[in-house]
Amino acid sequence: MSYQNIVIEYADHTGYITIDRPKKLNALNKETIKELHEAFKEMDLEEEVRVIIITGSGEKAFVAGADIAEFADFDAKEGKKLAAKGQKKLFDFVAKLSTPVIAAVNGFALGGGLELAMACHIRVASDNAKMGLPEVSLGLIPGYGGTQRLPQLVGKGKALEMITTGGMVDAQEAFSHGLVNHVVSSQEELIVFCEKIADKIARNSPLAIASAIKAVNANYEAAVNGFDVEIEAFGNCFGTKDFTEGTSAFLEKRKPKF
Ligand code: COA
Repeated sequence: MSYQNIVIEYADHTGYITIDRPKKLNALNKETIKELHEAFKEMDLEEEVRVIIITGSGEKAFVAGADIAEFADFDAKEGKKLAAKGQKKLFDFVAKLSTPVIAAVNGFALGGGLELAMACHIRVASDNAKMGLPEVSLGLIPGYGGTQRLPQLVGKGKALEMITTGGMVDAQEAFSHGLVNHVVSSQEELIVFCEKIADKIARNSPLAIASAIKAVNANYEAAVNGFDVEIEAFGNCFGTKDFTEGTSAFLEKRKPKF
């Protein structure tokens, strides 16, 4: 598939997605969300791809939010549809992907941009990154999962402060609250650092990693007992070729080949 708003690349075990609307600070319009869905789906099906790294084009922004120009004249019904469709197509889709996704936050991650980073499994920020959910300044609330995922990461108190003030936190503050896993000191280092994490992930069983993502996500699903999901997923691992390879390699004192 050819893309107009994103660039995708493959190298070794990693799929790279760059949101490419730098003149609009990579704001997520409908078309970009659709293309991101397709790209994530495509990469998740690719057996060679063990990790996906997503970032924004240019030096200023990861994603400065949902495209405000696109929904400025929406009514309540259209607003609900926008949030429901976006959550399903992109944000929940990424969170539930079998392949781990690392967000390389290279600048502003605001509104839908921070929501996208939060839907990813791991976040790394460059020191110029600024993050926030400024929707209340537009008379809105976060609609792509932000009211749920931000408290999960930073706790209810800090989340409500960020959401009600609409203010931004810098990379160090985001790190101190657990919003990002790591901060690197320059944009040049950002992808290199993410690749180091990707290399470590790629050494491990992709089947086990997919199960681990599913079990961790279960903790955040209503009416689902995460411990039960873990027991089921743990048991199922025993029937996989990766389990045979992983345990055989250990006993034979060699590196596993997954
Ligand atoms: N939706 C649509 N367009 C956006 C956008 C968004 N979320 N964020 C930035 N842009 C566009 C601007 O309209 C501008 O386009 P133009 O050159 O055609 O006028 C371009 O990107 C550059 O943005 P600009 O505001 O000039 O850059 P800046 O450096 O002065 O400010 C921000 C950067 C991020 C502080 C500012 O762009 C901003 O506040 N963006 C909106 C953030 C937001 O509210 N996101 C949540 C949306 S729900």
